[in-house]
Amino acid sequence: MCILKGKEIVIGVTGGIAICKSPELLREMVKCGAKVQVVMTKHAQEFITPLTFQTLSGNLVITQLFHLLPESKISHVALAERADMIVIAPTTANILGKIANGIGDDMLSTLVMAAKCPVLLAPAMNYRMWANPAVQRNVKHLKQDGYHLIEPGFGDLACGEEGKGRMAEVEEILEEMEEVLTGKDLQGERILITAGPTQEPLDPVRFISNRSSGKMGYALAHVAQKRGAEVILISGPTSLIPPRKVKFIKVGTALEMREATLREFQEATVVIKSAAVADYRPTVKEERKLKKSDSSITLALEKNPDILEELGKNKGSRILIGFAAETERLIKNAQDKLKAKNLDLIIANDVSQENSGFSSDTNQVKIIDQEGTIEDLPLLPKGEVAELILNRLKEMRKRKG
Ligand code: PMT
Repeated sequence: MCILKGKEIVIGVTGGIAICKSPELLREMVKCGAKVQVVMTKHAQEFITPLTFQTLSGNLVITQLFHLLPESKISHVALAERADMIVIAPTTANILGKIANGIGDDMLSTLVMAAKCPVLLAPAMNYRMWANPAVQRNVKHLKQDGYHLIEPGFGDLACGEEGKGRMAEVEEILEEMEEVLTGKDLQGERILITAGPTQEPLDPVRFISNRSSGKMGYALAHVAQKRGAEVILISGPTSLIPPRKVKFIKVGTALEMREATLREFQEATVVIKSAAVADYRPTVKEERKLKKSDSSITLALEKNPDILEELGKNKGSRILIGFAAETERLIKNAQDKLKAKNLDLIIANDVSQENSGFSSDTNQVKIIDQEGTIEDLPLLPKGEVAELILNRLKEMRKRKG
C-alpha cells in the first residue's frame, strides 16, 4: 500500500523548464491517494497555466500570497499547518536561495517558512548554476537545517548543454517522498540480505541455475532501507535495478556468494537469506564450449557449501532469518531447516502454488519462529511480505535488545 494514501501534500512549482515533469509527479501522487494542493510561483505560470494543475489535482491552484482558502484562514499558515509534506519540484536556484536565507516574499517561500512538516527540494538548473559556490553554500545550509534534497542528475539540459542539473525523475522523487515519510524503526540495524539465483557454469556459455528473479530479496532490501536500516544486498544475476542507497554486491556462483556473505557478515546485526543458492555445481568447468555428439552425457556435480548453515554456527548476537522453498511437507521441512541452521525465523515458501514463490510479484508464506509459532500470511505483493517479515524482526529485536 502506498504511504502517500490519505496524506496532504503540497507541491510547490517554480519557474524552470523541468516544470514539464511536475504534472506527471502530481498525477502519480493523486493515483496513490494523496490529497494534493499545488502552489505556483509567478515565474512558474510563464511556463504552464494553473489550469493544468487544477485539472489534475481537482483543487484550486494557489498563485498569490494573499489567497484565502475556503475556510477563510490566511492560507500560507493554514496550509503549513495541514500539510504532511511539501515537495518543491522543480526547485530553482532562486527559491533555493530564498529558503536558505529566510526570505519570504511570495506564497511558496512564506509557506515553507511556516511549515513544520518535512520539505523535499528537487533542484533543476543549468550545471554552471548548480556548481556556483553560492548555490552550493545554500544547499549545505539547507541540509544542515533539516531540509530533504534530492540531488539533480547528470545529462542533457534544456539549454542544450550537458552536465549535472537535470531534475530527478518522477519515480525517484516519489521514492524519496516515501522514504522521508516512513518511520525509521530499523535505524541502527545493519542488515545483510541475499537475493536471486546463483549460476554454476558448465562451460563458458552454459550454467545450472533456478527461476529466482530476486524480487523477494530486492523488496526486503528496499523496505529495510526505507525504514532506516543500513542495507547490504548481495545478489546473484537478475534483471532488477538495485534499490537506491543500499550497498550492492553482485555475485555469480554460490562460492562467490559465500565469500561476499562471510565478509559482510562480520559487521552485520541481521542476516536475511532469501537467495536461491544452487546446492550443487558441476565438478568440472570446461574451458571450451562442450561439443554436441551422438551419445548422451552425464554431468558430475559436487556439493556447494551451505552458507546459511555456516552463518548459523557463528551467529553470535546476530538475528538470522532464512527462507525455505518447498514443494511438499512445507512446515515440517521449514522447521527442520530452522533447527539445523540455528535460525531465529524461517520464512516457509510453498513454491508449488500459482502466483507465489519464484519470479511472481506476489508471495504466500508462513513465518515460523523457534517457539514453533506459525504466522500464516495471505497472498500479498512481495513488498508487503517484506514489511511483515521486518515487523517480526522489529518485535524480536525488542525482546532480545
Ligand atoms: O527471487 P524470487 O523470484 O522473488 O523468488 C523468491 C524465492 C522463492 C527464491 C524466495 O522466497 C525463497 O524461498 N528463497 C529461498 C530459496 C532456497 O534456496 O531455499 P532452500 O530451502 O533451498 O534453502 C534454505 C535456506 O538456506 C535459504 O535461506 C537459502 O538462501 C539458504 N542456502 C541454501 C543452500 C546453500 N547452499 N546455501 C544457503 O545459504
